[in-house]
Amino acid sequence: MIELRDVHKTLGGRPILKGMSFQVPTGTTYVLMGRSGIGKSVTLKHLVGILKPDRGEVLVDGVNVPSLDSEGLKDLRRKMGYLFQNGALINWLTVAQNVSLPLEEHSRLPRAEIRERVMRTLHLVGMDHAADLFPSKISGGMRLRAGLARAIVTEPRYVLYDEPNAGLDPIIADQIHRLIVEVRDRLGVTGLVVTHSRACAFTVANRIGVIDEGRIAEEGTVPEMRASTSPLVRAFLGGGSD
Ligand SMILES: Nc1ncnc2c1ncn2[C@@H]1O[C@H](COP(=O)(O)OP(=O)(O)O)[C@@H](O)[C@H]1O
Ligand SMILES: [Mg+2]
Repeated sequence: MIELRDVHKTLGGRPILKGMSFQVPTGTTYVLMGRSGIGKSVTLKHLVGILKPDRGEVLVDGVNVPSLDSEGLKDLRRKMGYLFQNGALINWLTVAQNVSLPLEEHSRLPRAEIRERVMRTLHLVGMDHAADLFPSKISGGMRLRAGLARAIVTEPRYVLYDEPNAGLDPIIADQIHRLIVEVRDRLGVTGLVVTHSRACAFTVANRIGVIDEGRIAEEGTVPEMRASTSPLVRAFLGGGSD
């Protein structure tokens, strides 16, 4: 389980998080929405210990992340995958080499075993045919799927997805959303997804939280958020296309 309790954080002299609190029960997916620059990525960075709160608690499995030493952080990152915007692949490595990076960093597995795991994970995201291609030779959707493979190759219990569909056409985006659901249901992953996309939120979420003024201002299940008349919720989840 992931839990933020009354997290406050000032960056560059500006208070960004002002009492951020939410819970993500094990095996569920929580979607974070909110306008650009409101502090969504900043929130994710607290969960991997890249940022520390000025005040409040950031709990993963009941352990307070800011209090972990470097060894503790290593253990945490071993059980937490991070899908960066656009996949963030390294251009001079092939898809398979990119996906193998977390295994080489966090495990002492023999080469053959690493290759085996990488191929199994690429298969899961429908990318086995692209293993030996370089990122510049594949589409944006394939780069994101490769980024997703890299995020889950260590079989993490948690995955953080930062705008997993930015810049993708609706069909490819939908494939990514279905993969996020599959990762939850097949691997039992606890997920935290940042997105602007209504389609993404409605497909992947168990709960949706909308940030305003540095904290969760509105929260609920998909049916609750669909039915909400709050102007803030309507702004992100109301009518129109995606
Ligand atoms: N390391 C940092 N130093 C100073 N300001 C930062 C830092 N990281 C983020 N910010 C600021 O915090 C705010 C929230 O950023 P971010 O969480 O990236 O927004 P978003 O909700 O779009 O993901 C932005 O105004 C950003 O400029
Ligand atoms: Mg962001």
